[in-house]
Order: sequence, then C-alpha cells, then structure tokens
Amino acid sequence: MSKRWYSEHRSDPWRRKARQEGYRARSAFKLKEIQEKFSPIRLGDAVLDVGCAPGGWSQVACELVGNDGIVVGVDLQTTSPMDGAFFIIGDIQDKIIQDATREAFQGRVINTIISDISPDISGRYDIDQAVSIDLVTMLCDFSLPLLNPGGAFITKVFQGPGLDALVRALKRRFSKVHRFSPISSRNASSEIYLVCKNLKPHHGGLIQTVGDEILDSLAKDGIVDNSNDDEIIAKTGFSVHRKD
Ligand SMILES: C[S@@+](CC[C@H](N)C(=O)[O-])C[C@H]1O[C@@H](n2cnc3c(N)ncnc32)[C@H](O)[C@@H]1O
Repeated sequence: MSKRWYSEHRSDPWRRKARQEGYRARSAFKLKEIQEKFSPIRLGDAVLDVGCAPGGWSQVACELVGNDGIVVGVDLQTTSPMDGAFFIIGDIQDKIIQDATREAFQGRVINTIISDISPDISGRYDIDQAVSIDLVTMLCDFSLPLLNPGGAFITKVFQGPGLDALVRALKRRFSKVHRFSPISSRNASSEIYLVCKNLKPHHGGLIQTVGDEILDSLAKDGIVDNSNDDEIIAKTGFSVHRKD
C-alpha cells in the first residue's frame, strides 16, 4: 500500500464515524444516505444484499427491516455472522450460488435488492468499468425475476460505456430510476448508485434480457461487434458473456 493510501485511510472521517458507531464498513453511510433520500427498505422487508462483505450494508438493512424482516447476503469473501442476516459465500454469477440464494429466502418474495458489488480493481479503469457493467447486468438478469412487483433495486456501478444503456433498460422495468452520488463516496470516485423504485408488473412486459439490451446498444455505439451469432468481439475492455 502506498503512503498516500495510508494517509487517506487514516484521515477518512467516514471510516472514523463507522468505527465509532459500530459499523463494519464506511459504506454503511452510503446506504443510510440512499435510505434517507429514497426510502427503498421498509420494516418487514426481505432484502438481498449482493457483494455484502464485510457487512456494513447488511447491518443497516437489518436495522431497517426489524425482527419480521430477513437479510440474505452473498459475497466472494466471508462475512462474519450477524443477527437477522444469513450469509452465503460464493460468486453471484455461479448457478449453485444463485440457487442457494433463492433457497435462503425460503419461499418469501424479495422486496428490495441492494448491491454494492465491486470488481477486483485491476488499475485499468476501462477494464474495471467494463467488468462493473458486466456484473451489474448479470445481477439484473438473475435477481430481477425474484423481485416482487413494486420492489426496489439499488446498485453501485462504475461510470462509463454501457451505463446509459443500463439506465435505459432499468427505466423500462421500474417506474423511477435515479442516479445518486452519496456524499460519503470518496471525492475522486467514479462510482455511482442507481436507485430503481417500483418494479413494474411483469417487468413492463419485456422479453429481451437486460444483457441483450445492453449488448445491442454497445453494438450500435461500435463498442462490441455482435453481428456474428456465435462470437461477440469486444473492441474495448468489455468481457462479453454469451448465454447458452
Ligand atoms: C465495496 S465491497 C462491499 C461492501 C459492503 N457493501 C459493506 O457495506 O460492507 C464490494 C464487494 O463485492 C464483492 N464481489 C465482487 N464480485 C463479486 C461476485 N462476483 N460475487 C459476489 N460478491 C462479489 C467483493 O468481494 C466485495 O466484498
């Protein structure tokens, strides 16, 4: 770690505040800001928290849903146990983990999906940004079918190519989509949160997946070439997953 990282880390007021108030991560305050402005989480809700470790967002979600609610978190990393929450370790892109996530709700419909998912930072912004869009797209196609009509979806995403297409795809499915930058995000950060409220019944009657919509849009912008059905050629850092 660099000297600069250490001094920024030590002097970070949000980190200090998190320690003082017993939160596991400074990011807890980002969800608190989102909740204050948009109220996506209600008492008694069933909440899916994707990219949950070390558990700051899950702590805030548990406080908001109360004893009748449930919080299920998924992360590649281990999250220490927490009253009111159930954690799954694994990759949310993995079918086995997706099945385990569904089962953890024990038949309850999900009211709110919160995701602070972040790729492993490679240091090349074009690649990290493309992976971020890719992860969020996959998350939409996995999780939105599990969300109750009227439900909310909140996700972090890195700004850049594909973001406008993602927002357009979400606007077709939700009545309201807001782009929000919490003040507790680091100044230099290029992350943004999409806060989507009120999932339309039957997802607005759409047939195309979010992934396909974004791919079409990226192809129109010349960022990928999807003219060949068998192969999609990425012209930038985009990794493109083909559904079987
Ligand atoms: C910024 S951290 C989340 C912090 C968390 N919201 C909190 O308040 O404690 C982002 C997390 O996303 C997780 N992540 C990244 N890719 C993932 C994947 N494919 N499946 C599950 N978790 C993933 C990382 O392991 C990391 O813990």
